[in-house]
Amino acid sequence: MKNLVLRPLAVADASAFSTMLSAQPPEYIQYFRPFDFDVETLVKLLEAAQDDVYMGFFVGSEQVGFFMLRGWDSGYAIPAYGVTISQSFAGIGLATLSLDASKTICRLRGVERLMLKVHPDNLTAKRLYEKAGFVQTGEDTRNANLVYHYDFK
Ligand SMILES: CC(C)(COP(=O)(O)OP(=O)(O)OC[C@H]1O[C@@H](n2cnc3c(N)ncnc32)[C@H](O)[C@@H]1OP(=O)(O)O)[C@@H](O)C(=O)NCCC(=O)NCCS
Repeated sequence: MKNLVLRPLAVADASAFSTMLSAQPPEYIQYFRPFDFDVETLVKLLEAAQDDVYMGFFVGSEQVGFFMLRGWDSGYAIPAYGVTISQSFAGIGLATLSLDASKTICRLRGVERLMLKVHPDNLTAKRLYEKAGFVQTGEDTRNANLVYHYDFK
C-alpha cells in the first residue's frame, strides 16, 4: 500500500532530490529555477541550512516533491516559499499540503508574513497560491515574477 512521508531533507537526500528535480519535463518545471539541480549544489544547500526549511515528500523510497521556506539564514524576517511536486504525483494535493504545513511552521515561529514569487504564466501555481489566501503585492522587475504575500493575523 502506498503511503506518504513528509520530513526534513538531510544532506544524504541530495542525490534523490537531484534525481527528482532533474527528472521533471523542462516545460513542467520551466518556472522553477531558484538553484541548480546537480547533486553538488544541493549538498551545499542542505549543508548550509540552519533555520531555513527544506522538506521532502516521499512515497516509499522515492522523493516525489519538496517545499522550502528560506530567508531566515540570510537574516530576513519574512521567509520565501518555494515548491516542486513531481509531475507524476501532481494534482493530488501535495502542494496544497505544503502550503498548509508552511503556514503552520510560520505560526510556530511567530512569522507575520510569508512571501513567494511566481511567473505570471504559471497559472496552476498562481491559482494554488490565490486559493491559499496569498495576495499579489508587487512585481520583481528583474525577472517579471509576481510577488505574493500571505499575512498571518
Ligand atoms: C504548481 C505545483 C507545485 C502544483 O502542485 P500540485 O501538488 O499538483 O498541486 P495540488 O495537487 O495541491 O493542486 C492545487 C490545485 O491545482 C490544480 N492543478 C494541479 N495540477 C494542475 C494542472 N496540471 N492543470 C490545472 N490545474 C492543476 C489542482 O486541481 C488543484 O486545484 P483545486 O484545489 O481547485 O482542486 C506543481 O504543478 C509543480 O510542481 N510545478 C512545477 C514547479 C513549479 O512551477 N513550482 C512553483 C513555482 S512558483
